[in-house]
Amino acid sequence: MLNDSLRTQWPARRLSDIAHLEDGASGWTFYLCTRKEIRTNRQSTPFVHVVLQDASGTIAGRILENVDRLRDEFEAGEFVRVQARADRHNQRLELVIESIRRVNAEQDRRDGFREEACILSAPRPADEMWQELEQLIARVRDIHVRQVLQRMVSAEASRLRIWPAALTVHHAYRSGLLEHILKVAEAGVALSACYEADTDYVIAGAILHDIGKLRELSYDAATAYTLEGNLIGHITIGVQMLHETARGIEDFPPQILVRLAHLIVSHHGSRELGSPVEPMMVEAIILSAADDLDATLHQVRRHQAESVGDDPLTSYHSRLGRVFLKPSGR
Ligand SMILES: [Fe+2]
Ligand SMILES: [Fe+2]
Repeated sequence: MLNDSLRTQWPARRLSDIAHLEDGASGWTFYLCTRKEIRTNRQSTPFVHVVLQDASGTIAGRILENVDRLRDEFEAGEFVRVQARADRHNQRLELVIESIRRVNAEQDRRDGFREEACILSAPRPADEMWQELEQLIARVRDIHVRQVLQRMVSAEASRLRIWPAALTVHHAYRSGLLEHILKVAEAGVALSACYEADTDYVIAGAILHDIGKLRELSYDAATAYTLEGNLIGHITIGVQMLHETARGIEDFPPQILVRLAHLIVSHHGSRELGSPVEPMMVEAIILSAADDLDATLHQVRRHQAESVGDDPLTSYHSRLGRVFLKPSGR
């Protein structure tokens, strides 16, 4: 009986996944809500802004009507059942949400709800990436550097396999940190061959530079900043983690420890970008360049993929401060 009344409440049409959503499509589906904010428009009328995700992507949504009733039906971090219409706004698709409530797992499973289908993940399987990480560490020739990497990675394995690299900016999904580490290492190793740098330090820097994100961010399907993350930040946390690990290794050479710490603290490249010192080793300059390149290209690719319409250029990317040519825009 309950089920029947609910069935009539939701339209029969199921929305396609976010990556294949088309302008004007309407229907219902399940998402993970990763952000919920009450905002006001120019007329001071409140509306709810949400960010929703499924395994294929993320999309912004707005609740413009029945705000008072719907705003308490769910929270950020919860799986939700949504009825909505896709609407093009500034070359990007958004959802205009007509109805939303938190998932009732028992009841909604009968309608096809599965947690994994709502969680955005890195495009490559975590197992495959993990193997690559182990091979990377095995390439490190210096025994002390290799040892500290092995210890750190195995102590943090359960989180490192699934952690996102960021809250929103780049690789902000399950296993995104691992994906980012491997790309930075791949680009960094190529550059270190080019410039005859010490590959050991470039690999170590790729693995360690953002390791503090394991404590800066909390991740349980949805991502948030921890208190430690807010108050200390991933650069300093990373150095603390490095020191904690090195202390457990007998006679760890201080000259190696200080170089590894330098790779972490300088990786943002400049003081304005949050590094207390600028890169002073060739390997640190390479690391910082590879890190910035990977983070930037990830944002560009995602922005290109999310831009809809025939215009050869994407919409303006406010963080990167420009528009981009779409791949098909020749
Ligand atoms: Fe960083
Ligand atoms: Fe990074």
